[in-house]
Amino acid sequence: MTDPRRHAPATLRNREPLLVTLRRHLPATGLLLEIASGTGEHAAFLAAALPHLTLQPTERDPDALPGIDAWCTGLPNCRPALRLDATAPRWPAAAAVLCVNMIHIAPWAATLGLMRGAAASLPVGGPLILYGPFRRGGAHTAPGNAVFDAELRARDPAWGLRDLEAVAEAAAAQGFAPPIVEPMPANNLTLVFHRS
Ligand SMILES: C[S@@+](CC[C@H](N)C(=O)[O-])C[C@H]1O[C@@H](n2cnc3c(N)ncnc32)[C@H](O)[C@@H]1O
Repeated sequence: MTDPRRHAPATLRNREPLLVTLRRHLPATGLLLEIASGTGEHAAFLAAALPHLTLQPTERDPDALPGIDAWCTGLPNCRPALRLDATAPRWPAAAAVLCVNMIHIAPWAATLGLMRGAAASLPVGGPLILYGPFRRGGAHTAPGNAVFDAELRARDPAWGLRDLEAVAEAAAAQGFAPPIVEPMPANNLTLVFHRS
């Protein structure tokens, strides 16, 4: 039988720094809902590293689900992957929501859906954690990010790096406090929004 697991090389580079940052912001127990799980490599890595949490991977792309489940095989705290588009009206309830490298590779409507869905899913004080490259103060934070942004927009004009301030405004509109901003390697940021 063919192995359904997919591999995204970036996950091997960013998963350790991501874990270090997540440990400071995640609740001790409960469901960690991951939006846009992609290959599922983060879900499997985080489930193994954070056994007190339950991972719920999700993906918009139904073809990705078997691969995510294959990566999570043998991890009792990783649930079967769910098909979920960030713009969907109903999300599972969660203690924390994580979304890595999605909002610049999707139309802005996905960001608005993410904020709406996370606000409905989280308890008061629950964190919505975003990881990826962002513009700040109307400018790119590194030349490499500007090149990446141009590549994304050439592939799809609706894609592209988002302004941190616009993301924070969209979050505030759904009742999230201003984000804690954590600098990450390779000119990425982790943004932690708490639902108020
Ligand atoms: C660059 S990949 C990142 C995947 C994974 N989080 C990672 O870090 O490897 C972007 C992912 O976003 C997903 N995606 C795009 N639009 C989405 C949406 N509206 N709702 C949920 N997922 C979406 C894509 O299917 C893809 O798996």
